[in-house]
Amino acid sequence: MNAAEKVCAFLEEAQVYYLATAEGDQPRVRPFGTALVYEGKLYIQTGKVKPVSKQLFENPKAEICAFHKGQWVRVSGKLLNDDRREVKAAMLDKYPSLKRMYDPDDGNTQVLYFADATAVFSSFGAPPETVTL
Ligand SMILES: Cc1cc2nc3c(=O)[nH]c(=O)nc-3n(C[C@H](O)[C@H](O)[C@H](O)COP(=O)(O)O)c2cc1C
Repeated sequence: MNAAEKVCAFLEEAQVYYLATAEGDQPRVRPFGTALVYEGKLYIQTGKVKPVSKQLFENPKAEICAFHKGQWVRVSGKLLNDDRREVKAAMLDKYPSLKRMYDPDDGNTQVLYFADATAVFSSFGAPPETVTL
């Protein structure tokens, strides 16, 4: 399992993670659930019309955090847009319920991948484990 797969597996188990972006000097955070490994990279999905997408366009620096069964992960890095149709389709195939709202060709569906990213797995009572994505 590479680092992206390890983080993705944890996010899948946790089901929900929290994505932080910056809007100027104001942090913004919201719940997210999508996570996919494609070509060894960790992708998330959103809609280009959302404020989160506009924030990442202005400033790709982002963090996500998830907590599950006494362990948490924090992923810090950049979230970069990938406009390839095949990645959007793979994401929607993984989350078929999203197909009610999104389509790879709708001009709104967006997938972004973590670049220059570090993930730290932490828990009380054990030393943190850092992996590079
Ligand atoms: C459990 C849960 C999972 C969610 N997963 C996603 C997701 O993967 N992608 C997404 O764009 N929105 C997702 N949402 C909705 C966003 O949290 C919501 O649209 C939020 O307002 C987006 O942030 P923004 O208003 O700053 O753009 C999820 C909401 C919940 C409650």
